[in-house]
Order: sequence, then C-alpha cells, then structure tokens
Amino acid sequence: MIVVAGSMNYDIILKVKRMPREGETMTCESASTAAGGKGANQAVQSAKLGVKTFMIGAVGNDNMGEYLLSEAAKYGLDVSHVKKSSVSSGMGCIHALEDGRVFATINRGANYDITAEDIERADDLFRQSKILILQNEIPDEINILSAKKAKSYGLKVLYNAAPSFPERRDVLPLADVVIVNEVEASEYLGVKIVSVDDAVREGLKVSGEMRNTWVITMGSQGSVICSGGKSEIVRPYHVDAIETTGAGDSYIGGLGYALINGMDIFTAAKFATKCSAVTVCGIGAQNSMPTLAKIHEMFGED
Ligand code: RIB
Repeated sequence: MIVVAGSMNYDIILKVKRMPREGETMTCESASTAAGGKGANQAVQSAKLGVKTFMIGAVGNDNMGEYLLSEAAKYGLDVSHVKKSSVSSGMGCIHALEDGRVFATINRGANYDITAEDIERADDLFRQSKILILQNEIPDEINILSAKKAKSYGLKVLYNAAPSFPERRDVLPLADVVIVNEVEASEYLGVKIVSVDDAVREGLKVSGEMRNTWVITMGSQGSVICSGGKSEIVRPYHVDAIETTGAGDSYIGGLGYALINGMDIFTAAKFATKCSAVTVCGIGAQNSMPTLAKIHEMFGED
C-alpha cells in the first residue's frame, strides 16, 4: 500500500508554438483541461499499476474539486482522505510547446490548506503503508511531519523535491529516495547540472553525504540513479511524444510500484522509464499514464 500526501490541481494545457512575448496576447493552437497536481498524478500512476494507493490532500468546494476527485477515483485512487476546503482548488496553467518543453505556473489554492490534523487523522494509512510519496506542492511543515511519521512507522519515503525550494532542506535527509530533475538538482546542489556526467558526480556526492538515494531525471538524456556509492544511467525510450506533462510524475508512481514489488532501485528506475515513455504519448498526465497491462503490451513482461 502506498500513501501520497500532496497536491491536486485543475490543469489548463495550452498547446503553443512558442511562449508569448511581453505585452503580447497570443493565440494558442488548442487548449484542454485535465486533472493534475504532482501529488495526484503520482498517486494515480501507482493506482493504475494496481497498487492500493491513498491520497491525503485538499480540494476546493467547487466544480474543479468535484472533477479532481471523480477523475482520481476513476483511476482507482482512494480519495477518502482528501478534504473539501473553503479555499478554491489548486490550478496549473501549462504552456506545452511542440518540441515537448513545458512551462507551468501553479496556483496553490486548497493544497496549502492541508493541516497537521489532516495528517494525524490519516495515522492508520501510515501504519498500513509501505511507501510514502511527497512533493513540494503542499506546506513544507506538512511534508516534514509526514516524513517523520513515515520514518517512525518504517515506511520508505520517496521525495520529489519539486517545485524546487532550495531553502527547504529538512525533508531531503529524511527521504530514502530524492527525485529531482536536472534544473531542480542544480538549484539544491548549487552546481549547474547539464550532462549525465555532472549528475553522476554530484548525485554520488550528495547521496553519500545524506546516506540515501538520489535520482536525477534529465529529460531526453534519461535518468541518473546514485545509491550506495554506485551510479547508473538509464536511457529513455524513443517514442513519438505528444505532450510531456506528468512524465516525471508517471516515473515516480512507477518507481513506487516497482519498489513495493521488491525491485532494487536500479531495476525500478528502468520500469519507471517505461511508464513515462507511455505517458508522453498522450495529452494530459493522468489520462495517458499506463496500466500494467499497457506496459506489458508495449515492452513485454520482463
Ligand atoms: O508535474 C506536472 C504537474 O505539475 C501538473 O499536473 C501541474 O498541476 C503541476 O502540479
């Protein structure tokens, strides 16, 4: 069982040829809406792969909130610990470029209304779960509380330290696995990470210092896993990508599935890479994330 304490956002995805210039009102190619939020996306990926997954979070008492809850439930995610807040639902506004790059702005909304009491109320979930997954779209003190509770019950903590807040460092050493992209890693580590060699060097250093595992995702270069003094580069699959929103979240939900099923972190990263390869082939995050059957269909069963 996996528990995710995190965000749920109503995403507006604008397909654009380029970003607008200052003062310009630009027309987009097409627009769509989708259920998102890093927390919900990661939880949905885990649930779609067949892991019993619980979400702790908050949505607004509005139409967006209703939509977010019904979408999550549709994919098998347990939302009984998501509260309805008087603050409006969190939102994501995503400019998706044709070459796969995305520019996102989020409105925190109800995600910042998650309280310590909400975490305490979910004590049973922590007791029963094997893995806790966290991101940075809810208050830092809630992440710290959740991570400490998880450690006290012996859960493995996966921490997607995104969006990056380099001044928030308390959860990093509490995490068993820290997952960041190259931009976030550069900000946390204070060193520009451009190549996989940079990621290997810096990842080995920080994972050694913190005695945990660091996974640095590098887009088209793949991902770098640094753990126990060893590193591995996992290359991505070449697919006809349509839109990359949620690819990283799919990877993290996939990691959760793989770790709970006994894979070591290096094998788990290879499985997670398959998940994100499928996710980029559709629009939106949750909708295009694969089930286990889809993974087997595309990549075989090994
Ligand atoms: O990682 C993608 C997600 O980040 C989007 O769904 C958006 O809501 C933001 O949280």
